[in-house]
Amino acid sequence: MSTKQQALFIIFGGTGDLAKRKLYPALFALYQKGIINEHFAVIGTARRPWTDQHFQAVVQESLPDAKAAVAKKFDAHFYYQSHNVNDTEHYVTLKKLAQNLDEKYQIGGNRLFYLAMSPRFFGTIAQHLKSQAIVTADGYNRVIIEKPFGHDYTSAAELNQSISKYFSEDDVFRIDHYLGKEMVQNILAIRFGNNIFNSLWNNRYIDNLQITLSESLGVEERAGYYETAGALRDMVQNHILQIVSLLTMKMPTTYSETDIRREKICALKSLKVYQPQEVATNFVRAQYQAATGLKGYRQEDQIAPDSQTETFVAGKLLVASENFAGVPIYIRTGKRLRQKATRIDVVFKTVPGDIFAKQDLADNILTIEVEPEGKVSLQLNVKKIGQGYQLQEQQLDLSPENRNGEQIPEAYEKLLLDALMGDATNFTHWEEVAYSWKFVDAIRQAWDQSQQPLAEYPCGSMGPKQADELLTKDHRHWIYK
Ligand code: BG6
Repeated sequence: MSTKQQALFIIFGGTGDLAKRKLYPALFALYQKGIINEHFAVIGTARRPWTDQHFQAVVQESLPDAKAAVAKKFDAHFYYQSHNVNDTEHYVTLKKLAQNLDEKYQIGGNRLFYLAMSPRFFGTIAQHLKSQAIVTADGYNRVIIEKPFGHDYTSAAELNQSISKYFSEDDVFRIDHYLGKEMVQNILAIRFGNNIFNSLWNNRYIDNLQITLSESLGVEERAGYYETAGALRDMVQNHILQIVSLLTMKMPTTYSETDIRREKICALKSLKVYQPQEVATNFVRAQYQAATGLKGYRQEDQIAPDSQTETFVAGKLLVASENFAGVPIYIRTGKRLRQKATRIDVVFKTVPGDIFAKQDLADNILTIEVEPEGKVSLQLNVKKIGQGYQLQEQQLDLSPENRNGEQIPEAYEKLLLDALMGDATNFTHWEEVAYSWKFVDAIRQAWDQSQQPLAEYPCGSMGPKQADELLTKDHRHWIYK
């Protein structure tokens, strides 16, 4: 069980959307559970000239139960400082405020610096935190970093260097919020906690893996960022490759940060990096077009009318590891697809021989549904009830109701608690980031040099037909239709 934690959070980007949508509700959940209570405080910083009172009101509005008396008590721990990250004087004021709060709440010097703003400021913030001695000598000093961590390998390496000059890798917590999702965390439990899966989890028994991260939302208010990112950088480099690493890594010696990260790094290092000419046959990129009353991507606010940014990616990945060589991993993600769904389908090879002559057997498929429901199911062939000997497929379902309806905590709540406890298992190590970028850069560069036009798909569909063809040419199909 988690013990009580004491810490001062300093959030750079405290007025931002992420802080309001994710961080404050997550901190509140930890507060309600008593994990943080008396000995914690939050300093929100951003350019705007807000007062503490205004900041507290904003925090309160962001909470699910804003009216509750406990929300008021919680908000009282929040302080605001108008802050220009390039202005050294502002760090002097920040230091004083931090020291006062540390004393007032008897925090003991533990500090978490949360960088939820443009990565171009990370280096200067890290430098000032050290030079202005905002880091303490008597507690821990951890930096939590939001994505995007660079926009290619080179920029990510520069960014990493600008932080690692001042903070050691052990104190850097790079967020990938998919790693905080309960069902993503479940992958290792399912794989390594059950010998029926552990012993079958290799190229002798698995035919292919499929990962779908579909979203029904469009680009929303993030046009500026999205235009420079696209689906490949926004979703594949981080969330999808993290899931790939959890699905293909070898069994770690122990369930521990060091061992798990080591195996994940090896898994990402084993990804086949495509040559430019291989990208066209193994990857599909596309953009959503107006349909069902929804605007096309190029008609969205602040999007260039001739934008070449992809809002959809599908691809076939190969891993050069002993256990996964030859097993294709099909991935796809996109905006404005039919519905929000995050799922993994593990398709097992068919039974050898043909004892049930002329009857088509369904594939055994293990499905890990991360969203919307958070469930695991297994497709089996069983005998049809009654006379004769017919087979039919049936699902074994492990849905949330079958798990005593336990409340699944939000990803950010789990990750913040991990950071408070100094457990970086579910954060991405620099080497994971590096290998992921190297893989993604090869695709991006091939696209940048290619004359091939973007494919198109209508809003509300499951992507372009080319994404289906990626599998049909291998005599396979998407399990999730
Ligand atoms: C973010 C991406 O990392 O993940 C967004 O930047 C995307 O574009 C989001 O919408 C999806 O997260 P979730 O938790 O809603 O699946």
